[in-house]
Amino acid sequence: MIYAANFKTNHTRQSTREYLGKLQMKLLLDKNPNDEIYIFPPLTALDEYNSSDFTVGTQNAYPFESGAFTGEVGLEQLREFNIDTILIGHSERRDIIGESQEQVAKKFEFFKEQGFKIIYCIGESLEVREKGIEIVMEHLISQFEGIDTTYENFMVAYEPIWAIGTGRTASVEEITETHNRLKKVVDRPLLYGGSVKGANIAEISAIENVDGVLVGGASLKSETFLELVLH
Ligand code: PGA
Repeated sequence: MIYAANFKTNHTRQSTREYLGKLQMKLLLDKNPNDEIYIFPPLTALDEYNSSDFTVGTQNAYPFESGAFTGEVGLEQLREFNIDTILIGHSERRDIIGESQEQVAKKFEFFKEQGFKIIYCIGESLEVREKGIEIVMEHLISQFEGIDTTYENFMVAYEPIWAIGTGRTASVEEITETHNRLKKVVDRPLLYGGSVKGANIAEISAIENVDGVLVGGASLKSETFLELVLH
């Protein structure tokens, strides 16, 4: 299984360091060697955290080496900490920050060229979900526009927007059907995200085409994230 923790705009440099220290101690003893663990702290908390038990990635970056892009972080800044893993296309960036599919695709292309591991997020709103699975799939597939789905170093995170941070998880049936269909479109590891927590990790991780989870709220404390990883 793949377990990815997305801190969003939570945690500081200091609390991230403490978190990773606790994580490291537990993982060293109890981690299943086949599991992959990714942590996405906020940009200001990036640093060179060397561990063979987890990988630290960035939640976002600008698709340039460096230059005149006020307020953005480029490849030069990521390289300082040997960051080579990135989240692209998260619904909060699409919907709150206003990233278009074109911008998302540019980011994907740039970081693909750099050989980054990419977790590429897609998802539908409740309004789309209520129109039924065919419309949901049409919407999800449109989020692959401009994306090279043959890139070997990427995975997909399916995150229904209505299940993110709401406590409302998609049902096992909904996840199963959506993941089965997605696998036929993009044959890459497929994560589910949206209110994953201790109470539902067993049933979600048991679904055949769920290769991992992307976790927000329940990843903020190392104890609750470890509950998922070590379930
Ligand atoms: P959540 O967030 O676990 O808090 O629902 C998931 C995500 O946005 O990646």
